[in-house]
Amino acid sequence: MSIYLDNASTSHPKPACVLEAMKYFLEEIGANAGRSAHKKAVEASRMVFETRELVADIIGAENSSRIIFLQNATEALNTAIFGLSLSRGDRVITSSIEHNAVMRPLRFLEKTRGIILDIIQCNRAGFLEADEIRKKITARTKLIVVNHASNVVGTILPIAEIGQIARVHNIPYLVDAAQSIGCLPMDVEKNFIDLLAFSGHKGLLGPQGVGCLYIRENFDLVPLRFGGTGSNSGSEYQPDFLPDRYESGTLNLPGIAGLRAAVKFVLERGISNIHKHIQNLTGELIEQLRKIKDIIIYGPQHKDLQTGVVSINLKGMTPAEAGEILDREFDIAVRVGLHCSPQAHKTIQTFPSGTIRVSLGIFNTVQDVNKFCEALCQIIE
Ligand SMILES: Cc1ncc(COP(=O)(O)O)c(C=O)c1O
Repeated sequence: MSIYLDNASTSHPKPACVLEAMKYFLEEIGANAGRSAHKKAVEASRMVFETRELVADIIGAENSSRIIFLQNATEALNTAIFGLSLSRGDRVITSSIEHNAVMRPLRFLEKTRGIILDIIQCNRAGFLEADEIRKKITARTKLIVVNHASNVVGTILPIAEIGQIARVHNIPYLVDAAQSIGCLPMDVEKNFIDLLAFSGHKGLLGPQGVGCLYIRENFDLVPLRFGGTGSNSGSEYQPDFLPDRYESGTLNLPGIAGLRAAVKFVLERGISNIHKHIQNLTGELIEQLRKIKDIIIYGPQHKDLQTGVVSINLKGMTPAEAGEILDREFDIAVRVGLHCSPQAHKTIQTFPSGTIRVSLGIFNTVQDVNKFCEALCQIIE
C-alpha cells in the first residue's frame, strides 16, 4: 500500500465527507452564490456563509465577513502585500525562512517600487527571536510578515510575541499560516494578527482551489481584483464592505462546499487532538531517524518546536535520487528539492540541492513512520 508523506504540499486523502459535499453541491445545488434570488442561489449563498462562519471559528475571528475566499494562500498573501500600497523607501521586515508566496511579491516590490526588505536571519534550525524584529523597526517600517511554521523544517515562530511588537508600534502584521492552520491552534486576537493568509487544502483538509485571507476589523487594503460581486450592481465602483470588496467574480463554490465539510470534520476531531496526534508521530519519526546512521536531520528536531514537517538528507545521495527510489521501490511519497523556499535552504545550508521533506498529516500512523524509516535503512544499505 502506498504511503503519503507529502501533507505540507497538500493533505491527502481528504475525508469522505469532503467528496460527498462537493458531489452534493454540484448535483443538487450548482447555482452561483450572491447573484440570483431563486432557491438554489439562496442555498449556495447560505453554504458560503456557513463556511465563512466555520473558518472564522477556527481562527478565533469574531466577524466572519472579515474572511475572504480566494484561490489559495498565495493569492491571499498577494492580496495582503499588494493591498498595502507600499511605496519607495517603505520597509518590510520578514524572516529568512519564508515561502516564495511571500518572497516573490516582496522582491517584485523591491525591484519595481523601491521598498526595502529587512530580512531577519534565522538560525540553522529556523528559529528567530522576536526581539530581532523589534530591533529592525524604523519609522518607515510598513509591514511585518512571517510564517507561523516553516514549510521546510517545520519550525514554529513566536508569532504572538512578534504580533505584540507589531501592535505596540502600530505596524501591519501579516502571518502566513499555510503550514499551521488545522494543525496548530490559531487565534488572531491573541496573536495580535491584522492579516492572516492560509490555504484550504492543507491542514484544513479541503480540496485544492480555496484559500483564505482574514482582514482585521477597520483594516483596509486596496483590492487586487475588481469586478462583479453580485452586490451594488447599479454601481461601477467596487463595494467598500467585506467580504465583497475582495471577492470579485464567481467563487469556487464546489471547493467551498468541500471546505465546509472539511472544516466541520477538523472541528469535530478537535485541533488540539489533531495537533497531539501529529506531534506524537513527529516525535516518533525524529527518534527513529536519529538511530539511522548516515542521515542528516535539519530543523529543531523536537516535536514541541515544530509541526509535522521534517527535512532530512542521506549522506552520499541527492534528495532527488532518494525521493525517486522511495517512490519507485517503496511507494512512499515525499517531496524533494527546495520546496519553493530558496532562502530557507540557504538558512539551513542545503541550497541548492535541498532536502527530502517528510510531512505528516492527520491520517498518518506509526506504521507509516516505521515503514518510511525501514525504507531509508534499506536504501542506505
Ligand atoms: C509557508 C507556505 N506559504 C504559502 C504557501 C502557498 O500555498 P498555496 O499553494 O495554497 O498557495 C505554501 C505552500 O506550500 C507554504 O508552505
